[in-house]
Amino acid sequence: MTTATPAQTDIRRGLAGVVADTTEISTVIQETNSLTYRGYPVQDLAARCSFEEVAHLLWHGELPDADQLGAFRARERALRPLDRTTAELLARLPETCHPMDVLRTAVSFFGAEDPAEDDGTPAANLRKSLGLLAKLPTVVAADHRRRRGLTPIQPDASLGYAENFFHMCFGRVPEPEVVRCFEISLVLYAEHSFNASTFTARVVTSTLSDLYSAVTAAIGALKGPLHGGANEAVMHMLGEIGTPERAEAWLDEALAAQRKIMGFGHRVYKHGDSRVPIMQEATDRLVAHADAPEAARLAALHTALRDAMAVRKGIHPNLDYPAGLAYHLMGFDIPTFTPLFVMSRITGWTAHITEQLAHNALIRPLGAYTGPGQRTVPTRP
Ligand code: ACO
Repeated sequence: MTTATPAQTDIRRGLAGVVADTTEISTVIQETNSLTYRGYPVQDLAARCSFEEVAHLLWHGELPDADQLGAFRARERALRPLDRTTAELLARLPETCHPMDVLRTAVSFFGAEDPAEDDGTPAANLRKSLGLLAKLPTVVAADHRRRRGLTPIQPDASLGYAENFFHMCFGRVPEPEVVRCFEISLVLYAEHSFNASTFTARVVTSTLSDLYSAVTAAIGALKGPLHGGANEAVMHMLGEIGTPERAEAWLDEALAAQRKIMGFGHRVYKHGDSRVPIMQEATDRLVAHADAPEAARLAALHTALRDAMAVRKGIHPNLDYPAGLAYHLMGFDIPTFTPLFVMSRITGWTAHITEQLAHNALIRPLGAYTGPGQRTVPTRP
Protein backbone atom coordinates (compact mmCIF):
# COMPACT_ATOMS: atom_id res chain seq x y z
CA MET A 1 0.00 0.00 0.00
CA THR A 2 1.26 3.52 -0.81
CA THR A 3 0.95 6.09 1.95
CA ALA A 4 1.39 9.81 1.54
CA THR A 5 1.76 11.91 4.66
CA PRO A 6 0.92 14.73 4.64
CA ALA A 7 -1.73 14.79 1.90
CA GLN A 8 -0.35 15.53 -1.53
CA THR A 9 -2.92 18.31 -1.82
CA ASP A 10 -0.93 20.20 0.86
CA ILE A 11 2.21 20.30 -1.27
CA ARG A 12 3.53 23.68 -2.39
CA ARG A 13 6.16 22.66 -4.95
CA GLY A 14 9.15 24.98 -4.80
CA LEU A 15 7.61 26.33 -1.57
CA ALA A 16 5.72 28.78 -3.80
CA GLY A 17 3.57 31.09 -1.72
CA VAL A 18 4.80 29.61 1.58
CA VAL A 19 5.57 32.16 4.32
CA ALA A 20 8.49 30.53 6.15
CA ASP A 21 9.24 33.15 8.85
CA THR A 22 9.14 36.86 9.62
CA THR A 23 11.91 39.22 8.52
CA GLU A 24 12.73 42.86 9.27
CA ILE A 25 15.28 43.19 6.49
CA SER A 26 13.39 43.71 3.24
CA THR A 27 10.02 43.24 1.62
CA VAL A 28 8.34 43.37 -1.76
CA ILE A 29 5.18 45.47 -1.48
CA GLN A 30 2.88 43.81 -3.99
CA GLU A 31 0.34 46.67 -4.21
CA THR A 32 2.99 49.17 -5.36
CA ASN A 33 5.34 46.59 -6.88
CA SER A 34 8.19 48.05 -4.85
CA LEU A 35 11.06 46.68 -2.78
CA THR A 36 12.23 48.23 0.49
CA TYR A 37 15.37 47.57 2.55
CA ARG A 38 14.66 48.25 6.24
CA GLY A 39 11.76 50.41 5.06
CA TYR A 40 13.61 52.50 2.46
CA PRO A 41 12.57 52.12 -1.22
CA VAL A 42 15.43 50.54 -3.10
CA GLN A 43 15.09 53.07 -5.92
CA ASP A 44 15.84 55.91 -3.47
CA LEU A 45 18.77 54.00 -1.97
CA ALA A 46 20.20 53.38 -5.45
CA ALA A 47 19.80 57.06 -6.37
CA ARG A 48 21.21 58.56 -3.17
CA CYS A 49 23.40 56.08 -1.32
CA SER A 50 26.72 54.35 -1.75
CA PHE A 51 26.91 50.57 -1.56
CA GLU A 52 28.80 50.86 1.75
CA GLU A 53 25.90 52.86 3.25
CA VAL A 54 23.45 50.19 2.09
CA ALA A 55 25.62 47.41 3.59
CA HIS A 56 25.58 49.31 6.91
CA LEU A 57 21.79 49.70 6.65
CA LEU A 58 21.26 45.99 6.05
CA TRP A 59 23.53 44.91 8.90
CA HIS A 60 22.74 47.56 11.51
CA GLY A 61 19.17 48.48 10.58
CA GLU A 62 19.96 52.18 9.99
CA LEU A 63 21.86 54.25 7.45
CA PRO A 64 25.19 55.38 8.94
CA ASP A 65 25.89 58.96 10.02
CA ALA A 66 29.15 60.52 8.78
CA ASP A 67 31.28 59.12 11.64
CA GLN A 68 29.80 55.65 11.37
CA LEU A 69 30.33 55.64 7.61
CA GLY A 70 33.92 56.79 8.02
CA ALA A 71 34.63 54.00 10.51
CA PHE A 72 32.86 51.41 8.37
CA ARG A 73 34.83 52.42 5.27
CA ALA A 74 38.14 52.40 7.15
CA ARG A 75 37.53 48.87 8.44
CA GLU A 76 36.43 47.59 5.02
CA ARG A 77 39.49 49.07 3.30
CA ALA A 78 41.88 47.57 5.87
CA LEU A 79 40.45 44.07 5.37
CA ARG A 80 40.73 43.93 1.55
CA PRO A 81 44.14 42.22 1.08
CA LEU A 82 44.31 38.43 0.88
CA ASP A 83 46.95 36.66 2.92
CA ARG A 84 49.65 34.82 1.03
CA THR A 85 48.30 31.33 1.71
CA THR A 86 44.86 32.20 0.32
CA ALA A 87 46.32 33.92 -2.74
CA GLU A 88 48.52 30.88 -3.45
CA LEU A 89 45.68 28.42 -2.94
CA LEU A 90 43.42 30.29 -5.36
CA ALA A 91 46.21 30.61 -7.93
CA ARG A 92 46.57 26.79 -7.89
CA LEU A 93 42.93 26.12 -8.89
CA PRO A 94 42.50 24.93 -12.49
CA GLU A 95 42.17 27.84 -14.91
CA THR A 96 39.04 26.21 -16.30
CA CYS A 97 37.39 26.55 -12.87
CA HIS A 98 34.27 28.75 -13.02
CA PRO A 99 34.76 31.94 -10.96
CA MET A 100 31.77 30.97 -8.79
CA ASP A 101 33.65 27.79 -7.87
CA VAL A 102 36.71 29.91 -7.07
CA LEU A 103 34.61 32.12 -4.85
CA ARG A 104 32.93 29.18 -3.12
CA THR A 105 36.34 27.63 -2.47
CA ALA A 106 37.69 30.94 -1.18
CA VAL A 107 34.87 31.37 1.34
CA SER A 108 35.27 27.80 2.49
CA PHE A 109 38.99 28.43 2.94
CA PHE A 110 38.38 31.68 4.87
CA GLY A 111 36.20 29.60 7.19
CA ALA A 112 38.95 27.02 7.69
CA GLU A 113 41.43 29.79 8.57
CA ASP A 114 39.18 31.73 10.94
CA PRO A 115 39.42 30.69 14.61
CA ALA A 116 36.13 29.23 15.77
CA GLU A 117 36.13 30.29 19.46
CA ASP A 118 33.76 33.22 19.00
CA ASP A 119 31.52 31.42 16.52
CA GLY A 120 27.90 32.38 16.28
CA THR A 121 27.85 35.55 18.39
CA PRO A 122 26.39 38.61 16.61
CA ALA A 123 29.71 40.48 17.01
CA ALA A 124 31.69 37.59 15.52
CA ASN A 125 29.31 37.26 12.61
CA LEU A 126 29.53 40.98 11.91
CA ARG A 127 33.32 40.76 11.90
CA LYS A 128 33.21 37.80 9.49
CA SER A 129 30.62 39.52 7.26
CA LEU A 130 32.76 42.63 6.93
CA GLY A 131 35.81 40.48 6.19
CA LEU A 132 33.93 38.74 3.37
CA LEU A 133 32.54 42.02 2.00
CA ALA A 134 36.10 43.38 1.86
CA LYS A 135 37.89 40.30 0.54
CA LEU A 136 35.47 38.86 -2.03
CA PRO A 137 36.21 41.64 -4.57
CA THR A 138 39.94 40.93 -4.20
CA VAL A 139 39.29 37.26 -4.99
CA VAL A 140 37.01 38.05 -7.96
CA ALA A 141 39.45 40.59 -9.42
CA ALA A 142 42.49 38.33 -9.04
CA ASP A 143 40.61 35.52 -10.77
CA HIS A 144 39.41 37.86 -13.53
CA ARG A 145 43.04 38.76 -14.24
CA ARG A 146 44.30 35.18 -13.86
CA ARG A 147 42.01 34.04 -16.66
CA ARG A 148 43.73 36.62 -18.87
CA GLY A 149 47.21 35.49 -17.83
CA LEU A 150 47.72 38.67 -15.74
CA THR A 151 49.10 39.02 -12.22
CA PRO A 152 46.84 40.34 -9.42
CA ILE A 153 46.69 44.05 -8.61
CA GLN A 154 46.71 44.83 -4.90
CA PRO A 155 43.76 46.74 -3.40
CA ASP A 156 44.10 50.50 -3.07
CA ALA A 157 42.87 51.75 0.31
CA SER A 158 42.50 55.29 -1.01
CA LEU A 159 39.67 54.16 -3.30
CA GLY A 160 36.01 53.45 -2.52
CA TYR A 161 34.56 49.95 -2.78
CA ALA A 162 33.44 50.17 -6.42
CA GLU A 163 36.43 52.19 -7.67
CA ASN A 164 38.88 49.83 -5.99
CA PHE A 165 37.25 46.85 -7.66
CA PHE A 166 37.72 48.35 -11.14
CA HIS A 167 41.30 49.24 -10.21
CA MET A 168 42.00 45.63 -9.14
CA CYS A 169 40.43 44.20 -12.33
CA PHE A 170 41.69 46.60 -14.99
CA GLY A 171 44.45 48.67 -13.40
CA ARG A 172 42.37 51.82 -13.84
CA VAL A 173 39.20 53.42 -12.55
CA PRO A 174 36.73 54.21 -15.35
CA GLU A 175 34.67 57.38 -15.76
CA PRO A 176 32.22 58.21 -12.94
CA GLU A 177 29.17 57.20 -15.09
CA VAL A 178 30.52 53.65 -15.31
CA VAL A 179 31.37 53.43 -11.60
CA ARG A 180 27.93 54.83 -10.70
CA CYS A 181 26.16 52.24 -12.86
CA PHE A 182 28.15 49.48 -11.16
CA GLU A 183 27.32 50.86 -7.72
CA ILE A 184 23.61 51.00 -8.62
CA SER A 185 23.76 47.32 -9.59
CA LEU A 186 25.39 46.49 -6.24
CA VAL A 187 22.66 48.34 -4.32
CA LEU A 188 19.89 46.64 -6.32
CA TYR A 189 21.39 43.15 -5.98
CA ALA A 190 22.11 43.47 -2.24
CA GLU A 191 18.99 41.96 -0.75
CA HIS A 192 15.74 40.29 -1.77
CA SER A 193 14.08 38.60 1.18
CA PHE A 194 13.72 34.78 1.12
CA ASN A 195 15.12 34.16 -2.37
CA ALA A 196 16.69 30.75 -3.06
CA SER A 197 20.29 31.58 -2.03
CA THR A 198 19.27 33.56 1.06
CA PHE A 199 16.90 30.81 2.10
CA THR A 200 19.77 28.34 1.61
CA ALA A 201 21.89 30.43 3.98
CA ARG A 202 19.05 30.47 6.48
CA VAL A 203 18.57 26.69 6.24
CA VAL A 204 22.27 26.06 6.95
CA THR A 205 22.25 28.62 9.77
CA SER A 206 19.14 27.05 11.29
CA THR A 207 21.18 23.93 12.11
CA LEU A 208 23.50 26.24 14.12
CA SER A 209 26.26 25.73 11.58
CA ASP A 210 28.72 28.60 11.01
CA LEU A 211 28.51 31.69 8.80
CA TYR A 212 31.14 30.52 6.30
CA SER A 213 29.27 27.25 5.74
CA ALA A 214 26.03 29.17 5.17
CA VAL A 215 27.69 31.58 2.69
CA THR A 216 29.44 28.73 0.86
CA ALA A 217 26.09 27.01 0.40
CA ALA A 218 24.43 30.27 -0.67
CA ILE A 219 27.08 30.77 -3.37
CA GLY A 220 26.25 27.30 -4.67
CA ALA A 221 22.54 28.17 -4.80
CA LEU A 222 23.16 31.50 -6.52
CA LYS A 223 25.27 29.91 -9.25
CA GLY A 224 22.31 28.19 -10.95
CA PRO A 225 20.84 29.83 -14.07
CA LEU A 226 17.33 30.00 -12.59
CA HIS A 227 18.78 32.34 -9.93
CA GLY A 228 21.97 34.46 -10.07
CA GLY A 229 23.50 32.55 -12.96
CA ALA A 230 20.83 34.15 -15.16
CA ASN A 231 22.89 37.34 -15.60
CA GLU A 232 25.58 35.27 -17.37
CA ALA A 233 22.96 33.31 -19.32
CA VAL A 234 21.45 36.59 -20.59
CA MET A 235 24.70 37.56 -22.27
CA HIS A 236 25.21 34.06 -23.75
CA MET A 237 21.66 34.29 -25.12
CA LEU A 238 22.23 37.73 -26.69
CA GLY A 239 25.41 36.34 -28.27
CA GLU A 240 23.43 33.39 -29.65
CA ILE A 241 20.76 35.66 -31.17
CA GLY A 242 23.32 38.03 -32.67
CA THR A 243 21.29 40.85 -34.21
CA PRO A 244 18.06 42.73 -33.35
CA GLU A 245 16.47 41.53 -36.60
CA ARG A 246 16.76 37.91 -35.44
CA ALA A 247 15.18 38.48 -32.01
CA GLU A 248 11.56 37.61 -32.87
CA ALA A 249 12.32 34.49 -34.91
CA TRP A 250 14.81 33.28 -32.28
CA LEU A 251 12.26 33.80 -29.51
CA ASP A 252 9.54 31.91 -31.39
CA GLU A 253 11.87 28.97 -31.88
CA ALA A 254 13.04 29.02 -28.28
CA LEU A 255 9.49 29.16 -26.90
CA ALA A 256 8.39 26.39 -29.26
CA ALA A 257 11.24 24.31 -27.85
CA GLN A 258 9.95 25.08 -24.31
CA ARG A 259 13.13 26.96 -23.44
CA LYS A 260 13.15 29.35 -20.50
CA ILE A 261 14.19 32.80 -21.70
CA MET A 262 16.96 33.94 -19.39
CA GLY A 263 16.51 37.20 -17.52
CA PHE A 264 12.72 37.03 -17.73
CA GLY A 265 10.11 36.07 -15.14
CA HIS A 266 10.20 36.06 -11.38
CA ARG A 267 8.67 34.00 -8.60
CA VAL A 268 7.54 37.06 -6.65
CA TYR A 269 7.00 39.81 -9.24
CA LYS A 270 4.35 38.91 -11.75
CA HIS A 271 3.94 42.44 -13.16
CA GLY A 272 7.60 43.39 -13.57
CA ASP A 273 10.62 43.44 -11.26
CA SER A 274 10.66 46.73 -9.31
CA ARG A 275 14.46 46.97 -9.68
CA VAL A 276 14.47 46.82 -13.46
CA PRO A 277 13.53 50.42 -14.39
CA ILE A 278 16.40 51.95 -12.42
CA MET A 279 18.93 49.38 -13.67
CA GLN A 280 17.67 49.79 -17.23
CA GLU A 281 18.10 53.59 -17.02
CA ALA A 282 21.65 53.14 -15.74
CA THR A 283 22.37 50.63 -18.53
CA ASP A 284 20.97 53.03 -21.14
CA ARG A 285 23.34 55.71 -19.84
CA LEU A 286 26.24 53.25 -20.23
CA VAL A 287 25.22 52.53 -23.83
CA ALA A 288 25.14 56.26 -24.58
CA HIS A 289 28.47 56.72 -22.81
CA ALA A 290 30.08 53.85 -24.76
CA ASP A 291 29.10 55.64 -28.00
CA ALA A 292 30.09 52.55 -30.03
CA PRO A 293 28.23 50.63 -32.78
CA GLU A 294 28.68 47.32 -30.87
CA ALA A 295 27.01 48.76 -27.74
CA ALA A 296 24.18 50.25 -29.84
CA ARG A 297 23.63 46.91 -31.62
CA LEU A 298 23.46 45.01 -28.34
CA ALA A 299 21.11 47.59 -26.82
CA ALA A 300 18.80 47.35 -29.85
CA LEU A 301 18.80 43.55 -29.61
CA HIS A 302 18.14 43.75 -25.85
CA THR A 303 15.11 46.01 -26.47
CA ALA A 304 13.82 43.91 -29.39
CA LEU A 305 13.88 40.71 -27.32
CA ARG A 306 12.22 42.40 -24.33
CA ASP A 307 9.43 43.78 -26.54
CA ALA A 308 8.91 40.46 -28.33
CA MET A 309 8.74 38.62 -24.99
CA ALA A 310 6.12 41.09 -23.73
CA VAL A 311 3.97 40.44 -26.81
CA ARG A 312 4.46 36.65 -26.99
CA LYS A 313 4.30 35.75 -23.28
CA GLY A 314 3.49 38.91 -21.29
CA ILE A 315 6.53 38.09 -19.13
CA HIS A 316 8.75 40.95 -17.98
CA PRO A 317 12.54 41.14 -17.50
CA ASN A 318 14.06 40.64 -14.06
CA LEU A 319 17.13 42.48 -12.72
CA ASP A 320 19.53 40.06 -14.41
CA TYR A 321 18.37 41.24 -17.85
CA PRO A 322 19.70 44.82 -17.74
CA ALA A 323 22.51 43.93 -15.30
CA GLY A 324 23.96 41.28 -17.65
CA LEU A 325 24.23 43.79 -20.49
CA ALA A 326 25.61 46.48 -18.16
CA TYR A 327 28.38 44.21 -16.87
CA HIS A 328 29.37 43.34 -20.44
CA LEU A 329 29.54 47.03 -21.35
CA MET A 330 31.72 47.67 -18.27
CA GLY A 331 34.29 45.24 -19.67
CA PHE A 332 33.79 42.20 -17.41
CA ASP A 333 33.90 38.77 -19.04
CA ILE A 334 30.70 36.72 -18.79
CA PRO A 335 31.85 34.23 -16.08
CA THR A 336 32.49 37.19 -13.74
CA PHE A 337 28.86 38.38 -13.78
CA THR A 338 27.45 36.09 -11.08
CA PRO A 339 30.46 36.67 -8.78
CA LEU A 340 29.61 40.40 -9.03
CA PHE A 341 26.15 39.48 -7.72
CA VAL A 342 27.84 37.61 -4.83
CA MET A 343 29.94 40.70 -3.96
CA SER A 344 26.67 42.52 -3.39
CA ARG A 345 24.36 39.79 -2.01
CA ILE A 346 26.90 38.90 0.68
CA THR A 347 25.33 41.80 2.60
CA GLY A 348 21.79 40.40 2.41
CA TRP A 349 22.87 36.82 3.10
CA THR A 350 24.79 37.76 6.23
CA ALA A 351 22.00 40.05 7.50
CA HIS A 352 19.65 37.05 7.21
CA ILE A 353 22.12 34.75 8.96
CA THR A 354 22.16 37.14 11.93
CA GLU A 355 18.37 37.43 11.89
CA GLN A 356 17.92 33.64 11.68
CA LEU A 357 20.18 33.14 14.70
CA ALA A 358 18.37 35.81 16.71
CA HIS A 359 15.19 33.70 16.81
CA ASN A 360 16.24 30.36 15.42
CA ALA A 361 14.02 27.44 14.55
CA LEU A 362 15.41 24.47 12.64
CA ILE A 363 14.14 24.63 9.03
CA ARG A 364 12.91 21.18 8.21
CA PRO A 365 9.86 20.78 5.94
CA LEU A 366 8.02 17.53 5.25
CA GLY A 367 7.83 15.52 2.06
CA ALA A 368 4.74 13.63 0.88
CA TYR A 369 6.05 10.13 0.29
CA THR A 370 5.12 8.56 -3.07
CA GLY A 371 7.52 5.60 -3.11
CA PRO A 372 6.73 1.90 -2.58
CA GLY A 373 4.71 0.82 0.45
CA GLN A 374 6.49 -0.90 3.31
CA ARG A 375 7.97 -4.25 2.21
CA THR A 376 10.20 -7.03 3.47
CA VAL A 377 13.91 -7.08 2.69
CA PRO A 378 14.48 -10.35 0.76
CA THR A 379 16.61 -12.94 2.49
CA ARG A 380 19.82 -13.46 0.48
CA PRO A 381 21.09 -17.00 0.02
N1 ACO B 1 10.80 32.03 -20.20
C1 ACO B 1 9.73 31.38 -20.69
N2 ACO B 1 8.64 31.10 -19.96
C2 ACO B 1 8.66 31.48 -18.68
C3 ACO B 1 9.73 32.17 -18.11
C4 ACO B 1 10.83 32.44 -18.92
N3 ACO B 1 11.90 33.08 -18.44
N4 ACO B 1 9.46 32.42 -16.83
C5 ACO B 1 8.26 31.92 -16.58
N5 ACO B 1 7.77 31.35 -17.70
C6 ACO B 1 6.47 30.69 -17.87
C7 ACO B 1 6.57 29.23 -17.47
O1 ACO B 1 6.92 28.42 -18.56
C8 ACO B 1 5.19 28.96 -16.96
O2 ACO B 1 4.33 28.81 -18.05
P1 ACO B 1 3.17 27.72 -18.02
O3 ACO B 1 2.25 28.14 -16.88
O4 ACO B 1 2.53 27.82 -19.36
O5 ACO B 1 3.82 26.40 -17.73
C9 ACO B 1 4.79 30.28 -16.28
O6 ACO B 1 5.56 31.29 -16.95
C10 ACO B 1 5.11 30.30 -14.80
O7 ACO B 1 6.49 30.02 -14.67
P2 ACO B 1 7.15 29.24 -13.48
O8 ACO B 1 8.44 28.65 -13.95
O9 ACO B 1 6.16 28.32 -12.86
O10 ACO B 1 7.40 30.42 -12.48
P3 ACO B 1 8.37 30.34 -11.29
O11 ACO B 1 7.90 31.36 -10.35
O12 ACO B 1 8.52 28.97 -10.77
O13 ACO B 1 9.76 30.70 -11.97
C11 ACO B 1 11.76 31.70 -12.59
C12 ACO B 1 10.46 31.86 -11.76
C13 ACO B 1 12.48 30.42 -12.17
C14 ACO B 1 12.62 32.90 -12.29
C15 ACO B 1 11.40 31.64 -14.08
O14 ACO B 1 10.71 32.81 -14.45
C16 ACO B 1 12.62 31.43 -14.95
O15 ACO B 1 13.07 30.31 -15.14
N6 ACO B 1 13.22 32.55 -15.48
C17 ACO B 1 14.45 32.45 -16.25
C18 ACO B 1 15.67 32.43 -15.32
C19 ACO B 1 15.92 33.76 -14.69
O16 ACO B 1 15.91 34.79 -15.33
N7 ACO B 1 16.19 33.72 -13.38
C20 ACO B 1 16.53 34.92 -12.60
C21 ACO B 1 15.53 35.13 -11.50
S1 ACO B 1 15.71 36.73 -10.76
C22 ACO B 1 17.16 36.70 -9.87
O17 ACO B 1 17.69 35.70 -9.46
C23 ACO B 1 17.78 38.08 -9.67
